[in-house]
Amino acid sequence: MSLRLGDIAPNFQAKTTLGEIDFYEYLGDSWGVLFSHPADYTPVCTTELGKTAQLKDEFAKRNVKVLALSVDPLDKHKGWINDINETQNADVNFPIIADDDRKVSDLYDMIHPNASETFTVRSLFIIGPDKKVKLTITYPASTGRNFHEVLRVIDSLQLTANYSVATPANWVDGEDVIVTAAVKTEDIPARFPKGHKIIKPYLRTTPQPNK
Ligand code: BEZ
Repeated sequence: MSLRLGDIAPNFQAKTTLGEIDFYEYLGDSWGVLFSHPADYTPVCTTELGKTAQLKDEFAKRNVKVLALSVDPLDKHKGWINDINETQNADVNFPIIADDDRKVSDLYDMIHPNASETFTVRSLFIIGPDKKVKLTITYPASTGRNFHEVLRVIDSLQLTANYSVATPANWVDGEDVIVTAAVKTEDIPARFPKGHKIIKPYLRTTPQPNK
C-alpha cells in the first residue's frame, strides 16, 4: 500500500553513490527529501539532479538531507554524475541509491505499473525529523519537478510545525500567513503581536511570526 501523510517513512539499507547507507542514520535529526527518477542518462532526470545539486545550500540552510533513487546500477549512476556535473554546472554531492533489486522502490511504491513496468516514476517524499511523511508528490516521467516548490513546501512545513499558522495559496517565505482555527480571535494579539487582519471570522492573517 502506498504511504500516506502522517505515516512513518520506513527505514531501509541501500547501496548508494556515497556508499552503503541506513536511511534513518543518514537522516539523523534532519528533515529528508527522498525522490525517485526513472532512469540514468535521460534528459529530464539530468536536469532534476543538477538542479537539486545547485540548491545544496538552500537544502542545508533548512537542515534537509536529500537522497535520490533509480533502479539503475551503481556503476551507471557514477558515470552519469559526470555528465550531470558537466552539463548542469553542478556538483552532485548527495547520494543516489542504486535500487536494482527494487527493494526501496517497492517499499515506497515508486513503480506504477500502468505508467511503466520497469522504471520508477518521479515520486518525492518530504520526511520530518520525527520520520513521518509530510508530503508526497508524484510526477510522470515527462515532467521535471520544480525544486523551488519543494523548498517552498519545506518552509511552510517548518513554520507550521512551530506556530499555529497555515500558509495560503502561492505563499512564499516572508509573506503573511493564516492564523489557524485553533487560536481564538481574542487570543491573537498575545500570540501574534506583530498584528493581524480579520478578513472573515475564519480567515485571519498575521505577518510571518518567525521573520
Ligand atoms: C527523462 O528523464 O528525460 C525521461 C526518463 C524516462 C522517460 C522519459 C523521459
